[in-house]
Amino acid sequence: ELDQQTIETVKSTVPVLEKYGKDITSRFYQRLFHKHPELKNIFNQTNQRIGNQPQALANAVYAAAANIDQLETILPEVKQIAHKHRSLNIQPEHYPIVGENLLAAMQDVLGDAATDDIIDAWEKAYQQIAQVFIDVEEDMYQEVQQTEGGWVGYRDFTIVAKEKESDVITSFYLKPADGGAIPTYQPGQYITVKVDIPDLPYTCQRQYSLSCRPNQEYFRISIKREDAMGGQAAGVVSSYLHQSVEQGDIISISAPAGDFVLDHKTKPLVLISGGVGLTPLTSMLETAVHSQPDRDIYYIHAAQHERVHGLKKQVAEISEKHPQVRSYVVYERPEDTNQCDKTGYVTLEWLQSILPTKEASFYFCGPQPFMKAINQALATWDVNPDDIHYEFFGPKGSLD
Ligand code: HEM
Repeated sequence: ELDQQTIETVKSTVPVLEKYGKDITSRFYQRLFHKHPELKNIFNQTNQRIGNQPQALANAVYAAAANIDQLETILPEVKQIAHKHRSLNIQPEHYPIVGENLLAAMQDVLGDAATDDIIDAWEKAYQQIAQVFIDVEEDMYQEVQQTEGGWVGYRDFTIVAKEKESDVITSFYLKPADGGAIPTYQPGQYITVKVDIPDLPYTCQRQYSLSCRPNQEYFRISIKREDAMGGQAAGVVSSYLHQSVEQGDIISISAPAGDFVLDHKTKPLVLISGGVGLTPLTSMLETAVHSQPDRDIYYIHAAQHERVHGLKKQVAEISEKHPQVRSYVVYERPEDTNQCDKTGYVTLEWLQSILPTKEASFYFCGPQPFMKAINQALATWDVNPDDIHYEFFGPKGSLD
């Protein structure tokens, strides 16, 4: 238990941290990778360059600090992060390393403002926060260990098929190299892929949503090749998987994780995806038509144009076979306007014209501007916030 003085000190420093938060976390990562270069194998180095991971960590630390006397209120956020940590095989012994370097970074950035009292209070607070994460993650490790076909850490899988889905998206079908069983999962969950890319000094790990319905034989991930664009470099891992990994090759993956999952309500299901954000939603679609056959489903996919539209055939087959599914395609700049239901963007007016009610479960995933637009539209429509579910690709960002 923290004493009142410690609680007050920690809470009163939150505004200061918010001000310097990004500087502190950037400094923290510099220190961390300098002292523990082996951690470069765990953290996504591209996110580090872009700076969104330092920001995500900073936000999580403030949220925890602001609620230090009632940490149970941030458990939903902790769980979402813990899923990702579990999928990356983060261990309890990593926590003190992060804590030590975070506190040192605070001292570096705040200088004299970081009094001994403040640093003492934060040391205690960090330990409490870390323990919450460690406990939640421990339960997750036990659960996956006990799941039939489940495993802890990484396991080799063979690429049994590689199929092009569009000019930029390719599906990889994965079966365990040991020939053993695989666990079921909840549609919407992801796996972490770990690869050693020749000439790169560190190992890379990336999360990819499973794009098909859970089955006993294989996993499928559908990956967009992130080409260089504007000032942004090409995706290191996606380019490698597209160009250099072939059928018969082996990659390491961790067991399915994540809390962006299909609910079991009876109200209509509305799945809205932008670009490669379609992967978790297609898994939900494939699953729901089987496990929730009485449920009305609206599957809305927005893509730039025909040539980058992935999983088109699979979705068309499902909606032909299952009359409860209504599928819509929105192209920003179609080559042929007859190939889509709408040109331009998904707007509130259009959603209202195709959906009979706002009393539905809404799921969306896609690029950040797309997510902001959908979130805004649903808020304007006054959709119940409990019915709104979304997932970011990469570190959690803001929809404001
Ligand atoms: C991801 C917070 C401890 C490694 C994240 C994310 C947050 C976060 C907010 C982003 C989640 C998302 O993608 O939505 C925290 C907090 C910690 C903590 C508050 C301490 C209390 C650790 C430790 C390690 C670690 C001890 C291991 C050394 C990672 C990695 C990612 C991640 C590798 C994935 C993001 C990337 O690679 O860019 N964490 N974390 N974290 N965390 Fe932590």
